[in-house]
Amino acid sequence: MTYLLALDQGTSSSRTIVFDRQGAIVAQAQRELPQIYPRPGHVEHDPMQIWGTQLATAQEALKAAGISASQVTSLGITNQRETTIIWNRKTGQPIHNALVWQDRRAEPVCAQLRADGHAERIQQKTGLLVDAYFSGTKLQWLLDHVPGARAAAERGELAFGTVDTWLVWQLTQGQRHVTDVSNASRTMLFNVHSNTWDQELLDLLNIPRSLMPEVQPSASHFGDTAAQVLGAAIHIGGMAGDQQSALFGQACFAPGMAKNTYGTGCFMLMHTGTQFHPSRNGLLTTSAAQTDSQAQFALEGSVFVGGAVVQWLRDGLRAIEHSGQVQQLAESVPDSGGVMMVPAFTGLGAPYWDADARGTITGLTRGTTVAHIARAALESIAYQSAALLQAMSLDAVANGGQPVSELRVDGGASVNNLLMQFQADLLGIPVVRPACVETTALGAAYLAGLTTGIYQNSEELSALWKAERRFMPTQDKARADALMARWEQAVRQTTAR
Ligand code: G3P
Repeated sequence: MTYLLALDQGTSSSRTIVFDRQGAIVAQAQRELPQIYPRPGHVEHDPMQIWGTQLATAQEALKAAGISASQVTSLGITNQRETTIIWNRKTGQPIHNALVWQDRRAEPVCAQLRADGHAERIQQKTGLLVDAYFSGTKLQWLLDHVPGARAAAERGELAFGTVDTWLVWQLTQGQRHVTDVSNASRTMLFNVHSNTWDQELLDLLNIPRSLMPEVQPSASHFGDTAAQVLGAAIHIGGMAGDQQSALFGQACFAPGMAKNTYGTGCFMLMHTGTQFHPSRNGLLTTSAAQTDSQAQFALEGSVFVGGAVVQWLRDGLRAIEHSGQVQQLAESVPDSGGVMMVPAFTGLGAPYWDADARGTITGLTRGTTVAHIARAALESIAYQSAALLQAMSLDAVANGGQPVSELRVDGGASVNNLLMQFQADLLGIPVVRPACVETTALGAAYLAGLTTGIYQNSEELSALWKAERRFMPTQDKARADALMARWEQAVRQTTAR
Protein backbone atom coordinates (compact mmCIF):
# COMPACT_ATOMS: atom_id res chain seq x y z
CA MET A 1 0.00 0.00 0.00
CA THR A 2 1.25 3.52 -0.85
CA TYR A 3 0.49 6.36 1.55
CA LEU A 4 0.99 10.08 0.98
CA LEU A 5 0.66 12.48 3.89
CA ALA A 6 -0.69 15.99 3.21
CA LEU A 7 -0.33 18.72 5.83
CA ASP A 8 -2.86 21.50 5.16
CA GLN A 9 -2.21 24.49 7.39
CA GLY A 10 -5.11 26.92 6.85
CA THR A 11 -6.14 30.22 8.37
CA SER A 12 -8.70 28.80 10.76
CA SER A 13 -7.45 25.23 11.22
CA SER A 14 -4.58 22.82 10.79
CA ARG A 15 -5.43 19.56 9.06
CA THR A 16 -3.66 16.41 7.94
CA ILE A 17 -4.97 13.89 5.43
CA VAL A 18 -3.54 10.47 4.59
CA PHE A 19 -4.19 9.62 0.91
CA ASP A 20 -3.69 6.37 -0.94
CA ARG A 21 -2.21 6.13 -4.43
CA GLN A 22 -5.63 6.64 -6.07
CA GLY A 23 -6.10 9.92 -4.22
CA ALA A 24 -8.72 8.43 -1.88
CA ILE A 25 -8.79 9.61 1.75
CA VAL A 26 -7.58 6.96 4.21
CA ALA A 27 -7.79 9.08 7.37
CA GLN A 28 -7.79 12.71 8.46
CA ALA A 29 -7.48 14.92 11.52
CA GLN A 30 -8.20 18.57 12.20
CA ARG A 31 -7.56 21.11 14.97
CA GLU A 32 -8.71 24.68 15.22
CA LEU A 33 -6.14 27.45 15.18
CA PRO A 34 -6.74 30.31 17.64
CA GLN A 35 -7.04 33.76 16.02
CA ILE A 36 -5.47 36.79 17.67
CA TYR A 37 -6.92 40.26 17.02
CA PRO A 38 -4.77 42.74 18.98
CA ARG A 39 -6.54 45.78 17.47
CA PRO A 40 -8.77 46.62 14.50
CA GLY A 41 -7.12 45.62 11.23
CA HIS A 42 -4.44 43.52 12.95
CA VAL A 43 -4.67 39.71 12.67
CA GLU A 44 -2.04 37.41 14.17
CA HIS A 45 -1.33 33.73 14.80
CA ASP A 46 1.05 32.27 17.35
CA PRO A 47 3.70 30.42 15.25
CA MET A 48 4.14 27.81 18.02
CA GLN A 49 0.38 27.12 17.88
CA ILE A 50 0.59 26.81 14.09
CA TRP A 51 3.28 24.18 14.54
CA GLY A 52 1.72 22.53 17.61
CA THR A 53 -1.71 22.05 16.00
CA GLN A 54 -0.18 20.89 12.73
CA LEU A 55 2.06 18.33 14.43
CA ALA A 56 -0.84 17.03 16.54
CA THR A 57 -3.02 16.46 13.48
CA ALA A 58 -0.18 14.65 11.66
CA GLN A 59 0.18 12.30 14.62
CA GLU A 60 -3.59 11.83 14.89
CA ALA A 61 -4.05 11.16 11.17
CA LEU A 62 -1.29 8.52 11.14
CA LYS A 63 -2.90 6.88 14.15
CA ALA A 64 -6.37 6.99 12.60
CA ALA A 65 -4.97 5.40 9.41
CA GLY A 66 -3.35 2.72 11.54
CA ILE A 67 0.06 3.28 9.95
CA SER A 68 3.46 4.42 11.12
CA ALA A 69 5.58 7.22 9.64
CA SER A 70 7.90 4.65 8.04
CA GLN A 71 5.00 3.51 5.80
CA VAL A 72 4.56 7.02 4.31
CA THR A 73 6.23 7.41 0.92
CA SER A 74 6.29 11.18 0.94
CA LEU A 75 4.81 14.22 2.63
CA GLY A 76 3.35 17.33 0.96
CA ILE A 77 2.67 20.70 2.58
CA THR A 78 0.03 23.22 1.61
CA ASN A 79 -0.70 26.37 3.57
CA GLN A 80 -2.41 29.70 4.09
CA ARG A 81 -0.31 32.03 1.96
CA GLU A 82 1.40 35.40 2.64
CA THR A 83 1.29 34.97 6.45
CA THR A 84 4.67 36.19 7.66
CA ILE A 85 6.94 34.79 10.38
CA ILE A 86 10.47 35.74 11.47
CA TRP A 87 12.44 33.58 13.87
CA ASN A 88 15.91 33.28 15.35
CA ARG A 89 18.02 30.75 13.44
CA LYS A 90 19.86 29.59 16.58
CA THR A 91 17.03 29.29 19.09
CA GLY A 92 14.17 28.67 16.66
CA GLN A 93 12.13 31.24 18.63
CA PRO A 94 9.79 33.53 16.64
CA ILE A 95 10.52 37.21 17.28
CA HIS A 96 6.81 38.14 17.05
CA ASN A 97 3.46 36.55 16.31
CA ALA A 98 2.83 35.73 12.65
CA LEU A 99 1.22 38.57 10.72
CA VAL A 100 -1.70 36.87 8.99
CA TRP A 101 -2.53 37.58 5.34
CA GLN A 102 -5.67 39.48 6.42
CA ASP A 103 -3.59 41.91 8.52
CA ARG A 104 -3.76 45.48 7.15
CA ARG A 105 -1.11 47.24 9.27
CA ALA A 106 1.33 47.67 6.37
CA GLU A 107 -1.17 49.62 4.26
CA PRO A 108 0.53 53.05 4.81
CA VAL A 109 3.78 51.64 3.38
CA CYS A 110 1.85 50.32 0.39
CA ALA A 111 0.13 53.66 -0.14
CA GLN A 112 3.59 55.28 -0.20
CA LEU A 113 4.90 52.73 -2.70
CA ARG A 114 1.94 53.48 -4.98
CA ALA A 115 2.35 57.24 -4.52
CA ASP A 116 6.04 56.97 -5.37
CA GLY A 117 5.16 55.31 -8.67
CA HIS A 118 6.49 51.79 -7.98
CA ALA A 119 3.26 49.90 -8.69
CA GLU A 120 3.84 49.21 -12.37
CA ARG A 121 7.39 47.92 -11.95
CA ILE A 122 6.31 45.72 -9.05
CA GLN A 123 3.48 44.27 -11.14
CA GLN A 124 5.86 43.60 -14.05
CA LYS A 125 8.24 41.69 -11.81
CA THR A 126 5.87 39.93 -9.41
CA GLY A 127 2.48 39.92 -11.14
CA LEU A 128 0.97 41.48 -7.98
CA LEU A 129 -0.86 44.71 -7.26
CA VAL A 130 0.81 46.62 -4.42
CA ASP A 131 -1.16 45.67 -1.31
CA ALA A 132 -0.67 44.98 2.39
CA TYR A 133 -2.04 41.46 1.72
CA PHE A 134 1.39 40.25 0.58
CA SER A 135 4.34 39.31 2.80
CA GLY A 136 6.93 41.91 1.74
CA THR A 137 5.58 44.93 3.59
CA LYS A 138 4.63 42.76 6.60
CA LEU A 139 8.23 41.59 6.77
CA GLN A 140 9.42 45.18 6.59
CA TRP A 141 6.98 46.16 9.37
CA LEU A 142 8.37 43.44 11.67
CA LEU A 143 11.97 44.51 11.03
CA ASP A 144 11.08 48.12 11.75
CA HIS A 145 8.89 47.57 14.83
CA VAL A 146 10.30 44.63 16.79
CA PRO A 147 13.12 46.01 18.98
CA GLY A 148 16.53 44.81 17.77
CA ALA A 149 15.10 42.91 14.78
CA ARG A 150 16.77 44.88 12.01
CA ALA A 151 20.21 44.74 13.61
CA ALA A 152 19.85 40.98 14.21
CA ALA A 153 18.71 40.49 10.61
CA GLU A 154 21.74 42.40 9.36
CA ARG A 155 23.98 40.11 11.42
CA GLY A 156 22.31 37.14 9.64
CA GLU A 157 20.74 35.80 12.85
CA LEU A 158 17.13 35.74 11.66
CA ALA A 159 15.12 33.70 9.16
CA PHE A 160 11.94 34.74 7.36
CA GLY A 161 9.32 32.31 6.19
CA THR A 162 5.73 31.92 5.17
CA VAL A 163 3.92 29.05 6.90
CA ASP A 164 5.31 26.37 4.53
CA THR A 165 8.87 27.42 5.37
CA TRP A 166 8.13 27.54 9.09
CA LEU A 167 6.67 24.01 9.02
CA VAL A 168 9.66 22.57 7.15
CA TRP A 169 12.03 24.29 9.59
CA GLN A 170 10.17 22.59 12.46
CA LEU A 171 9.79 19.22 10.73
CA THR A 172 13.52 19.11 9.94
CA GLN A 173 14.48 20.62 13.32
CA GLY A 174 16.15 23.60 11.72
CA GLN A 175 18.00 21.73 8.99
CA ARG A 176 16.12 23.23 6.04
CA HIS A 177 15.13 26.84 5.29
CA VAL A 178 13.14 26.48 2.05
CA THR A 179 10.00 27.52 0.21
CA ASP A 180 8.44 26.78 -3.16
CA VAL A 181 7.78 29.10 -6.10
CA SER A 182 4.02 29.34 -5.50
CA ASN A 183 4.49 30.60 -1.94
CA ALA A 184 7.44 32.81 -2.90
CA SER A 185 5.30 34.48 -5.57
CA ARG A 186 3.02 35.88 -2.82
CA THR A 187 5.74 37.87 -1.06
CA MET A 188 6.03 40.78 -3.54
CA LEU A 189 9.79 40.16 -3.32
CA PHE A 190 10.00 37.36 -5.89
CA ASN A 191 10.73 37.76 -9.56
CA VAL A 192 8.35 35.29 -11.20
CA HIS A 193 10.22 35.45 -14.52
CA SER A 194 13.60 34.33 -13.18
CA ASN A 195 12.18 32.36 -10.20
CA THR A 196 14.57 34.15 -7.83
CA TRP A 197 14.37 36.75 -5.06
CA ASP A 198 14.56 40.16 -6.71
CA GLN A 199 17.41 42.30 -5.39
CA GLU A 200 15.80 45.54 -6.54
CA LEU A 201 12.60 44.75 -4.60
CA LEU A 202 14.56 43.60 -1.52
CA ASP A 203 16.41 46.94 -1.63
CA LEU A 204 13.20 48.91 -2.17
CA LEU A 205 11.67 47.39 1.00
CA ASN A 206 15.00 47.35 2.83
CA ILE A 207 15.01 43.58 3.43
CA PRO A 208 18.40 41.89 4.02
CA ARG A 209 18.80 38.96 1.63
CA SER A 210 20.16 36.74 4.41
CA LEU A 211 16.58 36.41 5.75
CA MET A 212 15.25 34.73 2.65
CA PRO A 213 14.71 30.97 2.23
CA GLU A 214 15.96 28.91 -0.70
CA VAL A 215 13.30 28.56 -3.43
CA GLN A 216 12.53 25.22 -5.09
CA PRO A 217 9.97 23.88 -7.59
CA SER A 218 6.76 22.73 -5.87
CA ALA A 219 7.48 19.07 -6.66
CA SER A 220 11.03 18.57 -5.38
CA HIS A 221 12.88 17.22 -2.37
CA PHE A 222 12.55 19.81 0.44
CA GLY A 223 14.31 17.66 3.05
CA ASP A 224 13.36 14.84 5.42
CA THR A 225 11.52 15.13 8.70
CA ALA A 226 13.75 14.54 11.72
CA ALA A 227 13.09 10.98 12.90
CA GLN A 228 12.02 12.11 16.40
CA VAL A 229 9.21 14.31 15.07
CA LEU A 230 6.82 11.65 13.73
CA GLY A 231 8.62 8.48 14.72
CA ALA A 232 10.58 7.97 11.48
CA ALA A 233 12.12 10.24 8.84
CA ILE A 234 9.65 11.12 6.08
CA HIS A 235 10.66 12.48 2.69
CA ILE A 236 9.14 15.95 2.10
CA GLY A 237 8.40 16.01 -1.64
CA GLY A 238 5.65 18.56 -2.23
CA MET A 239 4.83 22.13 -1.30
CA ALA A 240 2.41 24.75 -2.62
CA GLY A 241 0.32 27.66 -1.37
CA ASP A 242 -3.23 26.46 -0.72
CA GLN A 243 -4.88 28.05 -3.76
CA GLN A 244 -2.22 26.86 -6.20
CA SER A 245 -2.35 23.46 -4.54
CA ALA A 246 -6.11 23.30 -5.09
CA LEU A 247 -5.58 24.24 -8.75
CA PHE A 248 -3.15 21.31 -8.98
CA GLY A 249 -5.46 18.96 -7.06
CA GLN A 250 -8.24 19.88 -9.50
CA ALA A 251 -5.89 18.75 -12.31
CA CYS A 252 -6.06 22.20 -13.92
CA PHE A 253 -2.73 21.89 -15.72
CA ALA A 254 -3.53 23.43 -19.11
CA PRO A 255 -4.10 27.07 -20.07
CA GLY A 256 -7.74 28.08 -19.62
CA MET A 257 -8.56 25.50 -16.93
CA ALA A 258 -10.00 27.16 -13.84
CA LYS A 259 -11.16 26.35 -10.33
CA ASN A 260 -13.12 28.24 -7.71
CA THR A 261 -12.88 27.45 -4.00
CA TYR A 262 -16.02 28.48 -2.09
CA GLY A 263 -14.89 29.14 1.47
CA THR A 264 -15.36 32.10 3.81
CA GLY A 265 -14.22 34.04 0.75
CA CYS A 266 -13.81 32.59 -2.73
CA PHE A 267 -10.53 32.11 -4.55
CA MET A 268 -10.66 31.63 -8.32
CA LEU A 269 -7.55 30.65 -10.27
CA MET A 270 -7.10 29.98 -13.98
CA HIS A 271 -3.99 28.30 -15.34
CA THR A 272 -2.38 30.40 -18.08
CA GLY A 273 0.55 28.19 -19.08
CA THR A 274 4.17 29.29 -19.33
CA GLN A 275 3.57 32.87 -20.48
CA PHE A 276 3.45 35.75 -17.98
CA HIS A 277 0.56 38.13 -18.63
CA PRO A 278 -0.15 40.99 -16.25
CA SER A 279 -3.91 41.38 -15.88
CA ARG A 280 -5.72 44.32 -17.46
CA ASN A 281 -8.83 43.56 -15.46
CA GLY A 282 -7.77 43.89 -11.83
CA LEU A 283 -6.60 40.30 -11.29
CA LEU A 284 -3.28 39.03 -9.95
CA THR A 285 -0.76 37.03 -11.93
CA THR A 286 0.78 34.39 -9.75
CA SER A 287 3.11 31.41 -10.04
CA ALA A 288 1.25 28.12 -10.34
CA ALA A 289 2.70 25.00 -8.71
CA GLN A 290 5.74 23.89 -10.71
CA THR A 291 6.95 20.35 -11.17
CA ASP A 292 10.30 21.47 -12.63
CA SER A 293 12.21 24.70 -13.20
CA GLN A 294 9.83 25.82 -15.99
CA ALA A 295 7.78 28.82 -14.80
CA GLN A 296 4.00 28.25 -14.83
CA PHE A 297 1.44 30.98 -14.26
CA ALA A 298 -2.14 31.49 -13.16
CA LEU A 299 -4.50 34.43 -12.95
CA GLU A 300 -6.14 34.83 -9.57
CA GLY A 301 -9.05 36.78 -8.20
CA SER A 302 -10.78 36.63 -4.84
CA VAL A 303 -14.17 37.41 -3.42
CA PHE A 304 -13.81 38.79 0.13
CA VAL A 305 -17.25 37.74 1.40
CA GLY A 306 -18.35 34.37 0.05
CA GLY A 307 -19.67 31.81 2.54
CA ALA A 308 -19.25 34.52 5.19
CA VAL A 309 -22.51 36.01 3.94
CA VAL A 310 -24.27 32.95 5.41
CA GLN A 311 -22.64 33.67 8.77
CA TRP A 312 -24.03 37.19 8.53
CA LEU A 313 -27.52 35.82 7.84
CA ARG A 314 -27.11 33.74 11.00
CA ASP A 315 -25.32 36.14 13.38
CA GLY A 316 -26.19 39.59 12.01
CA LEU A 317 -29.68 39.21 10.60
CA ARG A 318 -30.64 36.18 12.75
CA ALA A 319 -32.53 34.81 9.74
CA ILE A 320 -31.35 31.25 10.45
CA GLU A 321 -30.04 29.41 13.48
CA HIS A 322 -27.50 27.18 11.76
CA SER A 323 -25.63 27.78 8.49
CA GLY A 324 -26.99 24.47 7.17
CA GLN A 325 -30.53 25.91 7.11
CA VAL A 326 -29.75 28.45 4.41
CA GLN A 327 -30.40 26.15 1.44
CA GLN A 328 -33.84 25.13 2.74
CA LEU A 329 -34.84 28.76 3.40
CA ALA A 330 -33.55 29.91 0.00
CA GLU A 331 -35.34 27.03 -1.74
CA SER A 332 -38.66 27.92 -0.09
CA VAL A 333 -39.05 30.65 -2.75
CA PRO A 334 -38.72 30.11 -6.52
CA ASP A 335 -36.29 33.01 -6.93
CA SER A 336 -35.04 36.09 -5.08
CA GLY A 337 -38.13 38.07 -6.13
CA GLY A 338 -35.96 40.78 -7.66
CA VAL A 339 -33.85 41.26 -4.51
CA MET A 340 -30.10 41.72 -5.03
CA MET A 341 -27.60 41.69 -2.20
CA VAL A 342 -24.02 42.94 -2.59
CA PRO A 343 -22.16 41.86 0.57
CA ALA A 344 -19.43 44.49 0.29
CA PHE A 345 -18.96 44.39 4.08
CA THR A 346 -15.22 45.04 3.80
CA GLY A 347 -15.14 46.73 0.41
CA LEU A 348 -15.02 44.97 -2.94
CA GLY A 349 -12.06 43.07 -4.38
CA ALA A 350 -11.38 42.09 -8.00
CA PRO A 351 -12.53 43.16 -10.49
CA TYR A 352 -14.00 46.25 -8.72
CA TRP A 353 -11.27 47.16 -6.18
CA ASP A 354 -13.25 49.56 -4.08
CA ALA A 355 -12.07 49.50 -0.47
CA ASP A 356 -14.73 52.02 0.55
CA ALA A 357 -17.72 50.19 -0.92
CA ARG A 358 -20.27 48.97 1.63
CA GLY A 359 -22.95 46.31 1.35
CA THR A 360 -26.39 46.95 -0.06
CA ILE A 361 -29.71 45.17 -0.64
CA THR A 362 -31.77 46.39 -3.59
CA GLY A 363 -35.17 45.54 -5.08
CA LEU A 364 -37.13 45.31 -1.82
CA THR A 365 -40.95 45.31 -2.17
CA ARG A 366 -43.82 44.85 0.25
CA GLY A 367 -43.78 41.17 -0.73
CA THR A 368 -40.11 40.59 0.15
CA THR A 369 -39.54 37.99 2.86
CA VAL A 370 -36.48 36.81 4.70
CA ALA A 371 -36.42 33.83 2.32
CA HIS A 372 -35.89 36.16 -0.66
CA ILE A 373 -33.05 37.85 1.21
CA ALA A 374 -31.48 34.48 2.05
CA ARG A 375 -31.73 33.48 -1.60
CA ALA A 376 -30.21 36.79 -2.71
CA ALA A 377 -27.39 36.30 -0.17
CA LEU A 378 -26.57 32.86 -1.58
CA GLU A 379 -26.81 34.15 -5.13
CA SER A 380 -24.39 36.98 -4.30
CA ILE A 381 -21.63 34.38 -3.98
CA ALA A 382 -22.34 33.27 -7.55
CA TYR A 383 -22.62 36.81 -8.92
CA GLN A 384 -19.28 37.86 -7.45
CA SER A 385 -17.65 34.69 -8.80
CA ALA A 386 -19.21 35.29 -12.22
CA ALA A 387 -17.78 38.82 -12.32
CA LEU A 388 -14.35 37.35 -11.57
CA LEU A 389 -14.68 34.73 -14.27
CA GLN A 390 -15.72 37.34 -16.80
CA ALA A 391 -12.58 39.34 -15.96
CA MET A 392 -10.47 36.19 -16.38
CA SER A 393 -12.00 35.38 -19.72
CA LEU A 394 -11.39 38.97 -20.89
CA ASP A 395 -7.71 38.66 -19.89
CA ALA A 396 -7.44 35.24 -21.54
CA VAL A 397 -8.92 36.46 -24.83
CA ALA A 398 -6.75 39.62 -24.79
CA ASN A 399 -3.73 37.33 -24.56
CA GLY A 400 -4.78 35.20 -27.51
CA GLY A 401 -6.43 32.44 -25.45
CA GLN A 402 -9.96 31.11 -25.14
CA PRO A 403 -12.62 32.10 -22.60
CA VAL A 404 -12.96 29.67 -19.69
CA SER A 405 -15.13 26.75 -20.83
CA GLU A 406 -15.71 24.87 -17.57
CA LEU A 407 -15.35 25.75 -13.88
CA ARG A 408 -14.17 23.15 -11.37
CA VAL A 409 -15.38 23.83 -7.84
CA ASP A 410 -14.44 22.86 -4.29
CA GLY A 411 -14.60 24.23 -0.74
CA GLY A 412 -17.37 24.13 1.88
CA ALA A 413 -20.13 25.92 -0.05
CA SER A 414 -19.58 23.84 -3.20
CA VAL A 415 -21.80 21.17 -1.60
CA ASN A 416 -24.75 23.57 -2.00
CA ASN A 417 -26.53 22.33 -5.13
CA LEU A 418 -28.78 25.38 -5.44
CA LEU A 419 -25.73 27.66 -5.47
CA MET A 420 -23.82 25.50 -7.96
CA GLN A 421 -26.79 25.33 -10.36
CA PHE A 422 -27.27 29.10 -10.15
CA GLN A 423 -23.53 29.52 -10.80
CA ALA A 424 -23.75 27.39 -13.96
CA ASP A 425 -26.85 29.30 -15.11
CA LEU A 426 -25.10 32.64 -14.68
CA LEU A 427 -21.86 31.58 -16.32
CA GLY A 428 -23.40 29.63 -19.18
CA ILE A 429 -20.71 26.94 -18.79
CA PRO A 430 -20.65 23.64 -16.87
CA VAL A 431 -19.76 23.86 -13.19
CA VAL A 432 -18.12 20.60 -12.15
CA ARG A 433 -17.74 19.24 -8.64
CA PRO A 434 -15.09 16.53 -8.25
CA ALA A 435 -15.50 13.28 -6.34
CA CYS A 436 -12.81 14.44 -3.91
CA VAL A 437 -13.48 18.03 -2.77
CA GLU A 438 -10.35 17.99 -0.55
CA THR A 439 -8.45 19.29 -3.55
CA THR A 440 -6.10 21.56 -1.57
CA ALA A 441 -4.58 18.68 0.41
CA LEU A 442 -4.79 16.40 -2.62
CA GLY A 443 -2.68 18.83 -4.66
CA ALA A 444 0.11 18.68 -2.06
CA ALA A 445 -0.09 14.87 -1.98
CA TYR A 446 0.09 14.73 -5.79
CA LEU A 447 3.17 16.98 -5.80
CA ALA A 448 4.84 14.73 -3.21
CA GLY A 449 3.86 11.66 -5.23
CA LEU A 450 5.35 13.09 -8.42
CA THR A 451 8.66 13.81 -6.71
CA THR A 452 8.92 10.24 -5.47
CA GLY A 453 7.83 8.58 -8.72
CA ILE A 454 4.45 7.35 -7.39
CA TYR A 455 3.03 9.22 -10.36
CA GLN A 456 4.92 9.63 -13.62
CA ASN A 457 3.35 12.80 -14.99
CA SER A 458 0.39 15.17 -14.96
CA GLU A 459 -1.51 13.03 -17.52
CA GLU A 460 -1.67 10.29 -14.94
CA LEU A 461 -3.07 12.75 -12.38
CA SER A 462 -5.62 14.07 -14.89
CA ALA A 463 -6.86 10.51 -15.34
CA LEU A 464 -7.36 10.17 -11.57
CA TRP A 465 -9.54 13.30 -11.42
CA LYS A 466 -13.23 12.28 -11.44
CA ALA A 467 -16.35 14.44 -11.54
CA GLU A 468 -19.00 13.73 -8.92
CA ARG A 469 -21.60 16.03 -10.50
CA ARG A 470 -21.78 18.36 -13.49
CA PHE A 471 -24.17 21.31 -13.21
CA MET A 472 -25.18 22.25 -16.77
CA PRO A 473 -26.50 25.73 -17.60
CA THR A 474 -30.29 25.69 -17.97
CA GLN A 475 -31.04 29.28 -18.89
CA ASP A 476 -30.42 31.21 -22.09
CA LYS A 477 -27.65 33.75 -22.44
CA ALA A 478 -30.01 36.74 -22.73
CA ARG A 479 -31.48 35.96 -19.30
CA ALA A 480 -28.02 35.46 -17.74
CA ASP A 481 -26.83 38.76 -19.27
CA ALA A 482 -29.89 40.56 -17.90
CA LEU A 483 -29.21 39.19 -14.41
CA MET A 484 -25.55 40.22 -14.58
CA ALA A 485 -26.59 43.71 -15.70
CA ARG A 486 -28.87 43.99 -12.64
CA TRP A 487 -26.01 42.80 -10.45
CA GLU A 488 -23.68 45.45 -11.87
CA GLN A 489 -26.36 48.05 -11.23
CA ALA A 490 -26.56 46.95 -7.58
CA VAL A 491 -22.73 47.05 -7.34
CA ARG A 492 -22.80 50.66 -8.52
CA GLN A 493 -25.05 51.48 -5.58
CA THR A 494 -22.46 50.26 -3.09
CA THR A 495 -20.44 53.40 -3.76
CA ALA A 496 -23.40 55.80 -4.07
CA ARG A 497 -23.12 57.60 -0.77
O1 G3P B 1 -4.22 34.01 0.34
C1 G3P B 1 -4.81 33.53 1.50
C2 G3P B 1 -5.22 32.11 1.37
O2 G3P B 1 -4.13 31.32 1.03
C3 G3P B 1 -5.89 31.65 2.66
O3 G3P B 1 -6.60 30.53 2.45
O4 G3P B 1 -8.12 28.70 2.97
O5 G3P B 1 -6.47 29.40 4.70
O6 G3P B 1 -8.39 30.87 4.17
P1 G3P B 1 -7.45 29.83 3.66
